[in-house]
Amino acid sequence: MTDMAAYWDRAGRVWVEQQALLDRIYAPVARAVVEAADLRAGQAVLDVGCGSGATTFAAAWRTGPEGRAIGVDISPALVELARRRAGEDGLEGVAFELADAQTATFATPFDAIVSRFGVMFFPDPVAAFANLRRAVRPGGRLAFACWRKPEDNPLSLIPLAAAAPFLSTPLKYENDAPGRFGFADPDRVRRILAEAGWRKIEIAPLDTAMPGTFEDLMTLSVRVGPLNPALAGVDEARRAKVHAAVAEALAPYVENGAASLDAACWLVTAEG
Ligand SMILES: C[S@@+](CC[C@H](N)C(=O)[O-])C[C@H]1O[C@@H](n2cnc3c(N)ncnc32)[C@H](O)[C@@H]1O
Repeated sequence: MTDMAAYWDRAGRVWVEQQALLDRIYAPVARAVVEAADLRAGQAVLDVGCGSGATTFAAAWRTGPEGRAIGVDISPALVELARRRAGEDGLEGVAFELADAQTATFATPFDAIVSRFGVMFFPDPVAAFANLRRAVRPGGRLAFACWRKPEDNPLSLIPLAAAAPFLSTPLKYENDAPGRFGFADPDRVRRILAEAGWRKIEIAPLDTAMPGTFEDLMTLSVRVGPLNPALAGVDEARRAKVHAAVAEALAPYVENGAASLDAACWLVTAEG
């Protein structure tokens, strides 16, 4: 298992547990991605790093029963959940595969590739995006959302800063390495896509204000984010101190129980 596969094997189980919350707050991002892909009924679309399938489902409503919406992901737990949800919804033309998008081969070309936060984790992004370009027909469309830099997303930095005094190694995000903020630099994204053979690359800010509660904010901070693995081996007392410090740091971002979980992203489009 590669490092990333091992990482997502664990993190994928957290995303399964928090599927309802993540889908609720990131719904505007899925909508923006699918809109940008300009999908038509009867088309075939691939959702990369599909997780539990929210963007695949949003795409499938556009491609319809005559089309194909295929989600691929390296997390077995998330693919299993996506398949279960597809079965429950009875949505036609949808399928999910456990596959590494960097190397997977696809029998028939897609009209479009979409992704909500699923393309920043490739160890060799140029090779991965070249592989994805081979998966679309000539002129096929790419549309994905990725995060802008942590400083533009202060709610991701505040919990790490609050927890730092209690951790032996303070956590920090890396902007140019595979990971959540790996595509924060738009020049890097443009370079990667161009080297991989994509054309007509456009990168535009996508800002969404996601309404949530204080509990949502805490869950995202200590359960979904990088504090979760960092606290795994930490004793109960110290963990409680971290939770209290994070709660105190986040309190100013909540008013009457409501928090605005703003997301500063890039919406990236290109043509194959
Ligand atoms: C931040 S999550 C986003 C999941 C989903 N798109 C969503 O928005 O709910 C990133 C996803 O990318 C998947 N992923 C990471 N590297 C991958 C790869 N090489 N091939 C396929 N999926 C990958 C992870 O397993 C994870 O489900």
